[in-house]
Amino acid sequence: MLSVRNLQSAYGASQVLFDVGLEIGEGEVVTLLGRNGMGKTTTVRSLMGLLSPKAGEISFDGRPLKGNTPEAIARCGIGLVPEGRQVFPTLTVRENLVATAANRLGRASPWTLERVYGLFPRLQERAGQSARTLSGGEQQMLAVGRALMTNPKLLILDEATEGLAPVIRAEIWRCLEALKAQGQSILLIDKNIAVLKRLADRHYIIEKGRTVWSGSSAELAAQAEMVHRYVGV
Ligand SMILES: Nc1ncnc2c1ncn2[C@@H]1O[C@H](COP(=O)(O)OP(=O)(O)OP(=O)(O)O)[C@@H](O)[C@H]1O
Ligand SMILES: [Mg+2]
Repeated sequence: MLSVRNLQSAYGASQVLFDVGLEIGEGEVVTLLGRNGMGKTTTVRSLMGLLSPKAGEISFDGRPLKGNTPEAIARCGIGLVPEGRQVFPTLTVRENLVATAANRLGRASPWTLERVYGLFPRLQERAGQSARTLSGGEQQMLAVGRALMTNPKLLILDEATEGLAPVIRAEIWRCLEALKAQGQSILLIDKNIAVLKRLADRHYIIEKGRTVWSGSSAELAAQAEMVHRYVGV
């Protein structure tokens, strides 16, 4: 479904991605691992058209994405939960969820407010509250709910559990497990390797802007030393 080859990106004169490659198939849960500053968020920004790549190919459902605007890329069916909980602070929970809602791909059973509230009952309890007054964990749930309301074919989560209390984190994992069971394709960036080994099908490791390893969860589990070297856990 998503194929990235030899992706290169820079911020001005400073090149950050040198050779990133990854593939995500329909219904797969795939992770992008690597230490801080290795280029994970830059890869996501390049995919979403928020940063324009210097070189490489990105295709989604067989169509080239490179050169499209972020809006056009989102319309192709990619939903992003960006790093750092970017909800609309002055809108209510309900308004955040409906603001960008769409079913452009004509899904038979699209995400609705009711379904999102079913997944995250806390959001329903706080439907009329402005997003800036939510706790960090609730804002993260809202960011996930908002991405789901765009009915994406591919959901990308960049550090969705960063800085959350363990119980809230567990709630996000539970939600991702439910999404996976429903066949949702997901690209996950996170530092909780133990959970990722259980949840994801395949993994990619990036080091200084290059994909240096890819493999299944079983292969990752067998490579503790390599994981320690590249991911630092
Ligand atoms: N807007 C920017 N301008 C210049 N350099 C940047 C910018 N954003 C990121 N970088 C640099 O690009 C490199 C890769 O950053 P990136 O955010 O992609 O890393 P990351 O793998 O997501 O790290 P983390 O795990 O900390 O989120 C870092 O060296 C960072 O300092
Ligand atoms: Mg990052």
